[in-house]
Amino acid sequence: MPKQILMCPPDYFDIEYEINVWMHQDDQPSDLTAHQQWQKLHDIYIQQLGWEVKQITPVKGLPDMVFATDCCTIIGDKVMLSNFRYAERQPETEQFEKWFLENGYTQLKKASSFFEGGGDTLVFGDKIIAGQGFRSTPEAHKELEDYFGREVISLKIIDPHFYHMDTSLAVLDDQTVAYYPGAIDEASREKLKKSVPKLIEATPEEARGFSLNAVSDGHNIICSDASVSLLNKYRDTGFEVIGTPILEFRKSGGGVKCLTLELDL
Ligand code: ARG
Repeated sequence: MPKQILMCPPDYFDIEYEINVWMHQDDQPSDLTAHQQWQKLHDIYIQQLGWEVKQITPVKGLPDMVFATDCCTIIGDKVMLSNFRYAERQPETEQFEKWFLENGYTQLKKASSFFEGGGDTLVFGDKIIAGQGFRSTPEAHKELEDYFGREVISLKIIDPHFYHMDTSLAVLDDQTVAYYPGAIDEASREKLKKSVPKLIEATPEEARGFSLNAVSDGHNIICSDASVSLLNKYRDTGFEVIGTPILEFRKSGGGVKCLTLELDL
C-alpha cells in the first residue's frame, strides 16, 4: 500500500495575522513562489515516492489551512481533532472534520482543551511524542493518552521560534529522532534521552532552516533543503534524503511536515 497523505493547496495562503514570531504582516509570501514550492513537494510525494496525495479544498479567510497536519492527530481510523489556541485558526477544525466524515472516518473526537494535532504530536513506534507550552496543553496530552491508549512522551517547548513540536523534532523511524535540544526544557531533554535509542542533534542554525520539520517513511526523509549540514547528518545515519525549497512557508512558521497530514500512521 502506498503511503497516503492529505494536503491543502496554498490558494489563500497569506499572513493575515501574527500568531508566532515568524509571521509579519509586512512580510507577505509570494503567491507564485508558495505555489511552486507546494507543487514541487506534492510532485515529490507522487512522482518520486509513489505516494497517494488527497486534497482538501482550501477556504478563503483560512490562510493557515494549508498546514494540514495541524488539524488532528490520526492513528489508524481514530482521529482527535484540534482545538486551536488562536481564534483565527479555530474554524479550520470544522473544515477538516467535514472532510473526514465525507471520506469514511467515523471515530472523531475534538480535544476539549487547546490542542494542535500533528503540529504538536509525532507518532513514535507505539508511543506518541507530544509538545506543550505554546499551543497544546498538558491536559490535551492526557486526553491523547486516554483516547489512543498509548503512552505519551510529553515535552515542554520553551523557544517561541519552535512553538510547535514538529518544528524542532522529527521522528525518522521507530528508533530514531532528530531534534534541536534548545527548543525544549532540560527535563524534556532527559526524558527524550531515556525513551529514544538513537538521537540526532541539530544546531540552532540547522533548526532555523526548518529541516527538522520533516516527513519520513522510515527510509526516505523529505524536508527543507536549507540546512545542508543536517541533511548530511540524516544521510550519514543511513537515510535517503530529499531536500526541497520550502522557505516561503517559513514566513508563516511552517515547512514540509506542516503541509503534510499522514493518513496512514
Ligand atoms: N501560521 C501557523 C501557526 O502559527 C503555522 C503552523 C505551522 N504548522 C506546524 N505544524 N508547525 O499556527
